[in-house]
Amino acid sequence: MANTILVGAQWGDEGKGKIIDVLTEQADVVVRYAGGNNAGHTVYVGKQKYVLHLIPSGILRKNKLCVIGNGVVIDPIGLVEEINGLAKLGVKIAKNFVVSETAHVVFPYHRELDARRETVKGKNKIGTTKRGIGPAYGDKAARVGLRISDLVDPVLLKEKLSKRIAENNGVLKALGGKPLSFKKVYADYLAAGVFLKPFVANTVVLLHQKMQGGARMLFEGAQGTFLDIDHGTYPFVTSSNTTAGGACTGSGVPPHRMDRVVGVMKAYTTRVGEGPLPTENAAISDLLHGMGREFGSTTGRARRCGWFDSVATRHAAMVNGIDDLAITNLDGLDTLETIRVCVAYRRGKELYDFMPNDAQVLAECVPVYVEFEGWQTPTDKARTFKALPPKARAYLKAISELTGARLYIASVGPGRDQTIFV
Ligand code: GDP
Ligand code: IMO
Ligand code: MG
Repeated sequence: MANTILVGAQWGDEGKGKIIDVLTEQADVVVRYAGGNNAGHTVYVGKQKYVLHLIPSGILRKNKLCVIGNGVVIDPIGLVEEINGLAKLGVKIAKNFVVSETAHVVFPYHRELDARRETVKGKNKIGTTKRGIGPAYGDKAARVGLRISDLVDPVLLKEKLSKRIAENNGVLKALGGKPLSFKKVYADYLAAGVFLKPFVANTVVLLHQKMQGGARMLFEGAQGTFLDIDHGTYPFVTSSNTTAGGACTGSGVPPHRMDRVVGVMKAYTTRVGEGPLPTENAAISDLLHGMGREFGSTTGRARRCGWFDSVATRHAAMVNGIDDLAITNLDGLDTLETIRVCVAYRRGKELYDFMPNDAQVLAECVPVYVEFEGWQTPTDKARTFKALPPKARAYLKAISELTGARLYIASVGPGRDQTIFV
């Protein structure tokens, strides 16, 4: 493995954390390049569960450098909590962890604005994680954001933050929100800046030095293709480029240094938050929720569930240039007699074999399904492709063919060992 980008090929929560943790064994450096603590990546090491929000999932392996790249937005209070939480569980975070000095900072007014805007939108809300992600990326694009280099400089922090609080208190008031105290925010962020300063570096230069030294890099995507600000179901998206291109802009590693793209997808579909989900199905949701599965790692919300949508994953393969597929949660379908896969959409007389760009048009699409016979056998103990029931193998091969990328990994449980390299 040389340099690999790993992306979510659906609506997030595809099992990226688990697959990153498995692939980290073959990497030297793991880089987060987009999103913020809206992400929740679950990794099990034995019985111990870890949920990572900002820190790359590679942190759970020894002697791996974990980097938060410039494309990420960082809530420093959340990051300090995450570091301390992991330390309590015995995870060492020292020289193996670096934060970009040009990553943007999420402040309490971003979170407040996120929440207020959702309330104002009423039934048209996005269903955000309320982590302030949209407003923070908004400030970055408007060129008024503070970066980590500002956070760790008490003078710059004071000067810039006082102006931003004054402006944002006005906006918050107009939206019916409460103004924030500069003194309190400054004190909290100053302390977080002092804590984080030893981890801060010019990560672009660092990553290039590592590459020159022959390091193998793994780029950990957050969210998923259809939550991408450009390629997702706008406006029901997050505010960053979660797709493969984001790995370059969000880290400073150029496209010609990327060797392959791994697309992670569930053997079915889930989404958390609002927006179109063509294959959504109440019976599948009930089945998975009944098994205690598909509750959000960050917000605890029940995820909406549906059949596998190959129109969507084919589109994801196209936009990301997916070479290899990691298909997770195969075991979630173990009990089903019949399994459906969406192969096209119908809207009135129109038949679509691609994802329409307009979220309203997509919401009006009805899936065209093909059916597969279920294997009705537990798969969670299988450790080789051959050990899977023939019908499960046929299903995996079919969704790989329909998506148009190589079948690389099949995952049959949350554990490290429940991973089949095909
Ligand atoms: P991420 O955001 O893409 O990292 O995914 P999440 O961690 O939010 O959600 C994926 C969930 O599926 C987590 O609870 C994982 O532990 C779990 N998971 C991942 N792969 C498998 C699998 O193959 N089978 C089962 N049963 N659970 C899995
Ligand atoms: P990981 O990395 C699933 C969704 C939210 C909402 C929309 C916008 O764990 O896959 P935001 O707070 O980003 O402004 O919310 O995006 N969302 C996710 N859904 N997994 C995630 O991350 C998500 N991050 C954001 O639910 O619909
Ligand atoms: Mg998640």
